Amino acid sequence: TPVNQAAAVKAPTLPDAQTVTSVTHWTDRLFSFRVTRPASLRFRSGEFVMIGLMGDPHPETGKQKPLLRAYSIASPAWDDELEFYSIKVPDGPLTSKLQHIQVGDEIILRPKPVGTLVHDALLPGKRLWFFSTGTGFAPFASLLREPQTYEDYDEVIITHTCRDVAELAYGAKLIEDLKADELMQELIGTENLAKIRYYPTTTREQSPKMGRITTLLENGTVFADLGVPAISPKTDRAMVCGSLAFNKDIQALMEGYGLKEGANSEPGHYVIEKAFVGDGV
Ligand code: FAD
Ligand code: A2P
Repeated sequence: TPVNQAAAVKAPTLPDAQTVTSVTHWTDRLFSFRVTRPASLRFRSGEFVMIGLMGDPHPETGKQKPLLRAYSIASPAWDDELEFYSIKVPDGPLTSKLQHIQVGDEIILRPKPVGTLVHDALLPGKRLWFFSTGTGFAPFASLLREPQTYEDYDEVIITHTCRDVAELAYGAKLIEDLKADELMQELIGTENLAKIRYYPTTTREQSPKMGRITTLLENGTVFADLGVPAISPKTDRAMVCGSLAFNKDIQALMEGYGLKEGANSEPGHYVIEKAFVGDGV
C-alpha cells in the first residue's frame, strides 16, 4: 500500500544526500563505493564532483558543516549509479571517516560536475592514451566504460603505475570485467572492447612490468612492448591524471612529442587533471 511504501523510503538527513549501495575495500589504502544518482545529475564521462560527509559539530555552537572534497566520477555517464574510487588518508579530514561508510549510509554529493578529462577537450585522433598513477585511474574507469571513447579512436591505451601490485587491483579487475561482461559487449561492442591495451606497471614491488611510465616512455620500452610508433601530434591524443609531480613530468614528455594542451574552450592534443593536491601519503 502507499502507506507502507512511504515508510520504506528513508527521509534524507543530509543536504544533497545520496545513499551508498556498495563498498569494496581493495587494500588498506584504497576502496571504491557506489551511491544512488540524483535524477537531475547530468555529467560527461571523466568529470569530477564535490562529495563528502557532515563534519564534526563545532565545539561551542554545535553546528555541523559539510566536509567536501573533489572526486572523479569513476562510473560512465550512462550508469544509473555513481561510482567513486578513493584513497584512505589515515588522518585525512574526510577519508579518515569516509573509509568507514557502509551500504545504506548517506554521503553528500554536490551535483555540479566539472573537469578537463573529457572528449570535448581533445581534437580528433587515431590513438588515445590514458596515463594514470594511484587513484588517478578513477576518471579513466569512467571513460573506459564510455562508448564514445571507442567511436572516436582506433586504439585505447591505459597505463596505470602504482607502488605495489595490490594497488593495481581495482583497475585490473575493472578492465577484465569490462571485456567479459555481456552487457558491456552489447553496449560498447566486442570489437571496440578489443581496442583496449592495458599497461600496468609497479615501482616498488616486483611485477611483470617494473618502472615509472615516464621512464618507460623515455627509453621507448612502452612503444616496443605495445608495438606502436612513438607518440605524435598527427595520430596520438592523451589524458593524464596523477600526482602533481607525475603530471608535470608527463606534460614535459607530451610537449617533447609535439603535443599541445587542450581545454574545454579550446580542444588540443592532451589534457591533464590532478588526482589530488599535495605530495602524497
Ligand atoms: P586531504 O586533507 O584532502 O589530503 C591530505 C593529503 O593526503 C594530501 O595533502 C595528499 O598528500 C594526500 N592525498 C589526498 N588525496 C590523495 C589521493 N587520491 N592519492 C594519494 N594521496 C592523496 N581522491 C580520491 O581518492 N579519488 C578521486 O577520484 C579523487 N579525485 C580528485 C579530483 C580532483 C580534481 C582533485 C583536486 C582531488 C581529487 N581527489 C581524489 C583528492 C580528494 O579531493 C581528497 O584530497 C582526498 O579524498 C583526501 O581527503 P582528506 O580530507 O582525507 O585529506
Ligand atoms: P615511485 O615509487 O618511483 O615514486 P604515489 O603513491 O607516491 O602517489 O605514487 C604512485 C606511483 O606513481 C608510484 O609508482 C610512483 O613511483 C609513481 N610516480 C610518482 N611520481 C612520479 C613522477 N614524477 N613520474 C612518474 N611516476 C611517478
